[in-house]
Amino acid sequence: MRQWADETFQKAVAKFRRSAGIAAEQDIVPYRGEGCAWQGPPFDGDGWWTNGFWPALMWQLYAATGEEIFCTEARRVQKRLEAELDAFTRLNHDVGFMYLLSEGADALLTGESMARVHVLHAATILAGRFNPSGFIRAWGQPGREGWAIIDCLMNLPLLYWATAETGDPRFSALARIQTETTIRHFLREDGSCNHIVIFDPVTGAVLDAPAGQGYARGSSWSRGQAWALYGFTLGHMATGWPECLDAAERVAGYFAAHIRPDGLTDCDFMQPPGEERIDNIAGAIAACAFLELVKLTGKSQYRDCALKLLTGMDRLSADWSDASRGVLTKCTAAYHDDGAGRHVNITYGDYFFVEALAKLRSADPMFWLHEKAQKGGESHD
Ligand code: GLY
Repeated sequence: MRQWADETFQKAVAKFRRSAGIAAEQDIVPYRGEGCAWQGPPFDGDGWWTNGFWPALMWQLYAATGEEIFCTEARRVQKRLEAELDAFTRLNHDVGFMYLLSEGADALLTGESMARVHVLHAATILAGRFNPSGFIRAWGQPGREGWAIIDCLMNLPLLYWATAETGDPRFSALARIQTETTIRHFLREDGSCNHIVIFDPVTGAVLDAPAGQGYARGSSWSRGQAWALYGFTLGHMATGWPECLDAAERVAGYFAAHIRPDGLTDCDFMQPPGEERIDNIAGAIAACAFLELVKLTGKSQYRDCALKLLTGMDRLSADWSDASRGVLTKCTAAYHDDGAGRHVNITYGDYFFVEALAKLRSADPMFWLHEKAQKGGESHD
């Protein structure tokens, strides 16, 4: 399996070496590949929540190869993301994805001092979204003051990073409250999760749990399950909180039971039988989480899950040809709304696929965790 991971990773290096040059020529932030070209973000321009994943992918490849092209391309896009920090209005809770994986990766790999400042700036923005009635506000639209979403677990590593960086416990204290809220109000008895929970923004009372990007109210949007799985896992890795590991394993059991025989991932684990709606991004995220859970628990079944997902995607959904820009196909942004892509290549699917390969090669630089947490030297309680 190590040989497969090495060879597949090298194919990714070769493909993205070409595709990085084309992104720079097109002068856009790649969101998805379409034929020989990149397409930019579907909404919100440089402020779109996925824009940190392209630099993150570049940094993964830079960490493995040291090739200048990947560093240069990451920083080309980071300049545009820095302008979004100043503009502020298009940012939401996804500043973790946007800045920890781009500027944070830069800081980790190169020691670039201004990159650390940008990450801290992003962390203060995320902290500013905390509602003292007990949750982090997800999106900024008027009327959504009480909306919180499962995806936010994946942005909490930005807060752990800020506490590790500054020694100020406020950041991880907010993350703890968001984590407890998520366990209480999103995580269901069977290990599945709601995507959205709407709270009264004044009292914190639960008002509703609509369908979000999944098939229907009460269903199990697979990417939401994957965000929960990896988010709780990372929470435990950053802090050692046992409740995070317990929650991660509950979600892991649920996700594992819904992996398709071919290793691809349905867009919603409760979608109607016979409906062809795949989201390989969910599978790639889950594979990363399963590989970390093996290390945390010693349970080999998690490795089996990761390998089933990754080899299935490589066999059935990876495009290694020269005639396309990205690798992972059959990525789906949302069950009902095709505006951000359905069954296409989407860059953050590629990011998690490559991160998982790096883990299998024991060479993941682990952008989600501050270097102090990686050394196991900090307690954030
Ligand atoms: N809302 C973030 C996602 O599409 O996963």
